Amino acid sequence: MREGSGRSAALAAFPVVRTASVRARCIGVEGGSLFGIDLAHRAALVAGSGGGIGGASVRALARSGAAVACIDIDERAADEAAQQATELGAHAVAIVADLSQRDHVERAVSDAEARIGPIDILVDVVGEARWGRTIEFDDEEWDATFDLVLRHFFHLARAVGRRMVERDHGGSIVAIASVSGLRSAPLHGPYGAAKAGLMSLVRTLAVELASNRIRVNSVAPGSVLTPRVMAMMSAERRAASSAAIPLGRFAEPEDVANAVAFLASDLASYITGQTLVVDGGATAQFPLSLRA
Ligand SMILES: NC(=O)c1ccc[n+]([C@@H]2O[C@H](COP(=O)([O-])OP(=O)(O)OC[C@H]3O[C@@H](n4cnc5c(N)ncnc54)[C@H](O)[C@@H]3O)[C@@H](O)[C@H]2O)c1
Repeated sequence: MREGSGRSAALAAFPVVRTASVRARCIGVEGGSLFGIDLAHRAALVAGSGGGIGGASVRALARSGAAVACIDIDERAADEAAQQATELGAHAVAIVADLSQRDHVERAVSDAEARIGPIDILVDVVGEARWGRTIEFDDEEWDATFDLVLRHFFHLARAVGRRMVERDHGGSIVAIASVSGLRSAPLHGPYGAAKAGLMSLVRTLAVELASNRIRVNSVAPGSVLTPRVMAMMSAERRAASSAAIPLGRFAEPEDVANAVAFLASDLASYITGQTLVVDGGATAQFPLSLRA
């Protein structure tokens, strides 16, 4: 086939995306863009929706037209996320659950489905680092990190994945990993190991669920300016760390949320089992410079 040029040829090259009718809703992509993210008529469950990356993900999905169930252990944070999504025109509900508890996971997923419909998109943001020298961690701290970072994702992906398979309508699962699981750094012992396990589980789920048209991916942020990170870092330390990042700044939560919305959408329909690194180039660079 002869290669065409201009807008009509570009449209013909990507028939899967309903570009002609799509409203360009994706944040960071203004009206008139060829590739808007359209999640209209999709139901999304965001776990850990009350935090920096979770809140931004809720807003990105809501702007893209999805109905959103905002789940968090913190009731006020879940309510606020749902409120923000509602103000953006989305159907949104808040659900309080401790997702490190298996029975809470089952209950929260059932509740979400009862209130926004069968889940098409799962975004799992829950996780928290404990920093320390590996040889100084005790077993309880090690287990607590693995429970919060990895085990809850197994429970959540299993609960949602089983429902997606049963429904036979496909789906998309996106987990928030971390560059800590890709590269080593002092004090990252259990957190990095658990995030590495999370990315491994994402790949396995992706190949197991591909025949059910369920895509499973992760996003690995570098340093993100969430309220939690801002609270624990001085301005001086942040400036010094920013200087070591090729793009010269920390990520905003929206930088990560844009990647989440992309992977959740049909624009990523041929992407599964992958980790999308969102780190301003931090892990791409060789640590030694030839310049004096
Ligand atoms: N902020 C960063 O620099 C950064 C970098 C790489 C990866 N990450 C990862 O991104 C994710 C979010 O990070 P963040 O900085 O936005 O964190 P955050 O603390 O702002 O958000 C986490 C949210 O999860 C909720 N949560 C915690 N435990 C829960 C539980 N048991 N059940 C239900 N909800 C629970 C919290 O209430 C909070 O709203 C985490 O998985 C983190 O490991 C963050």
